[in-house]
Amino acid sequence: MSEAQVKKKIIIAIDGPAASGKSTTARLLAKQLGYTYINTGAMYRAVALKAITKDVVDRLQSDEQFLAEFLLNTQVRLEGEQVFLDEKDVTAEIYDNTVSNAVSQISSLKKVREKLFDSQRQMGWHKGVVMDGRDIGSVVFPEAELKIFMIADAHERAKRRYKELCEKNPDGNPGISLDMLEQEIRQRDEDDRSRSVAPLKKPLDAKELDTSHLSIEEQVERIAQMAGEVIES
Ligand code: DC
Repeated sequence: MSEAQVKKKIIIAIDGPAASGKSTTARLLAKQLGYTYINTGAMYRAVALKAITKDVVDRLQSDEQFLAEFLLNTQVRLEGEQVFLDEKDVTAEIYDNTVSNAVSQISSLKKVREKLFDSQRQMGWHKGVVMDGRDIGSVVFPEAELKIFMIADAHERAKRRYKELCEKNPDGNPGISLDMLEQEIRQRDEDDRSRSVAPLKKPLDAKELDTSHLSIEEQVERIAQMAGEVIES
């Protein structure tokens, strides 16, 4: 790393649809640059997990007062790669498929977004962060020095998630078919794009990266190169 890179710290925003490889890429990139990785999707997932556990997903959509109280009593905290919900480590649970399928309903609530927006802004305040999500370059850090919009073919993304689920389960059974996963991914894309608050949308000044035919290493390398150019400039 050059002297300029050591001194200048930037914010790298990585947005894009579900399962486009954002998290893995962002994590490795942060490690390579000595930056902090902030996974904002995990924060929405933690709120969704609480709503599912308390069986209040529907009520949160319709009862404003209840939503306000629920949020007042909900604390989400990231500690490195670990996610804490009301001080309990929920890092593994938030990737359950039940959470994946309900999280769009929760992340489309304006009050939920406002609450998480504040802590995301605080976490990136000192720069030197790689933050991934759906609205980082457009809403959370519109001033980010480098914005990447990562896309990949839906079928390719379903294949990646399928492989991940096979590896995660001790018996190698993903518990869902590849077709079903692809349908769910397409549905989540549609939900994320069509919501009225902070919809998934490529910021005008973001660089698009199609990862359909790239390995994780290639993705990291491309963004690291772009980051290097920004840092040196
Ligand atoms: O990246 P992910 O699949 O873990 O994200 C989970 C959900 O949270 C997904 O439905 C989109 C939503 N999300 C969001 O609305 N804004 C963000 N900055 C990050 C995630």
